[in-house]
Amino acid sequence: MRITLIAGNWKMNKSHLEAMRLVQEIGHELADVNPQKVEVVVCPPFTALRTIQTLIDADRYELVLGAQNMYLAEEGAFTGEISAGMLKALNVTYVVLGHSERREILGESDDEVNAKVKMAFEAGLTPLICCGETESEHAAEQTRSKVEHQVQAALAGVRPDQVRSAVIAYEPIWAIGTGQTATPADAQATIAYIRSMVADMVGPDVAGAMRLLYGGSVKAGNAKALMSQSDIDGALVGGASLEAAEFSSIVKAVT
Ligand code: 13P
Repeated sequence: MRITLIAGNWKMNKSHLEAMRLVQEIGHELADVNPQKVEVVVCPPFTALRTIQTLIDADRYELVLGAQNMYLAEEGAFTGEISAGMLKALNVTYVVLGHSERREILGESDDEVNAKVKMAFEAGLTPLICCGETESEHAAEQTRSKVEHQVQAALAGVRPDQVRSAVIAYEPIWAIGTGQTATPADAQATIAYIRSMVADMVGPDVAGAMRLLYGGSVKAGNAKALMSQSDIDGALVGGASLEAAEFSSIVKAVT
């Protein structure tokens, strides 16, 4: 049984004070949610991780902490970077890696994503790896080849027992922040393809246990139709995760 995972990627939004308010609101809205049925993850900016860790611990919210990125070395002269070990020390569980915004705006390569995936596992973090095609690749029907390439690169040399616990989010770039979503059938088809590809790489048992998410303009109104697809195990939510009521409605819609 794959436990549904709903993760909010706050991107570069919310000061630590605003983050505090948001997580308290989400925590109260979701007080009755059963963590055996749905795992709810919040991924604030680095500057709010410590604040939110403290709140989660003190108020016993059933929320899990995620980070949006990390660097690919353990420590040293890397000005401005944050290591996996630093995240682990804050009780961070998940780390988003290879988000399209990092790939496109900050030039992150497949090799870097792969190195970060391995480094995350070494530090005891679970990578939440993103993949997805651009609008022009979508129009040219290159979705499968694009995600295949990204997923194979991200998981190259990763042990099967690690792959089993990794999470992959399929986020078509044309659907991010645009209000356009992949249809549930299209999202299902691509995500099922990713699962079959992972099965070819490391076996059907591992692929069957792995959680695969959809991301791209997920809202309370479309979450249920997307999440009820057989291979879609949850969502990576951007804009709608910045409002407690909307984000909580997504979680409630899928439970
Ligand atoms: P939106 O939900 O705002 O489209 O963002 C999706 C996303 O990029 C999550 O990582």
